[in-house]
Amino acid sequence: MIALPPNTELMADAEATARAAAEHLLAMAERAEGERIAICLSGGSTPKRLYALLASPGFVERVPWARIHWFFGDDRVVPWDDALSNVRMVREAFGHAAPVPATHLYFIPSDHGAEAGARAYEKTLREFYGADHLDPDRPLFDLVLLGLGSDGHTASLFPGKPALAERKAWVAPVPEAGMEPFVPRITLTLPALASSRSVLFLVNGASKREPLQRLADGEDLPARHVASAGRVTWYIDREAAAA
Ligand code: 6PG
Repeated sequence: MIALPPNTELMADAEATARAAAEHLLAMAERAEGERIAICLSGGSTPKRLYALLASPGFVERVPWARIHWFFGDDRVVPWDDALSNVRMVREAFGHAAPVPATHLYFIPSDHGAEAGARAYEKTLREFYGADHLDPDRPLFDLVLLGLGSDGHTASLFPGKPALAERKAWVAPVPEAGMEPFVPRITLTLPALASSRSVLFLVNGASKREPLQRLADGEDLPARHVASAGRVTWYIDREAAAA
């Protein structure tokens, strides 16, 4: 088995990862003190089952939908109804069962290109946060959900790309993605992701063995740089862990 990151919980399979993540999110919401709860969603395919679970019987009645505000850690610069869009993935997963107030879903604008979209989303985050500087004692997010790409990227922070090195802006354009889909992206930056009470990585499947092994070998991959004001937890299934 691969030497796994600190605070890893080994999951039997992808379904177990999704169910544990749903319970983790509910427990976080239970502890959250403020009226508003801010959750930053991961894109890609791994979290779709989690999002569908939250909207399903047994969970949908337990989620404090009226308090939660849903943000995106990144998106592809494509129309929101495009098959590549994380907005479409979340909308399909939540379906009509999740009573999400329309004003509580903050989609990353994708109709004016990566630069303009990044600036617009940063404005949205600053307005929600109520300040232009992130206070370490007042995290922007209660929970950040992240995935791990087969190249070790997370959100749309790819190895060697400028957005990874961004330390002032909260949101950055990614004109050239580091792996498929090779469309421009918009991504939250490491400082924005770090402004969180907790981070949860969801990692399933054999394709993640290589990046997990490279992380274990100490390679300087983007996912290694993710920090939080609280705990960074990993839910990794046995297939990814080569257990
Ligand atoms: C995206 C995601 C990205 C994803 C990883 C893993 O927009 O693609 O934010 O960071 O989490 O690429 O993707 P899978 O879950 O599809 O393996």
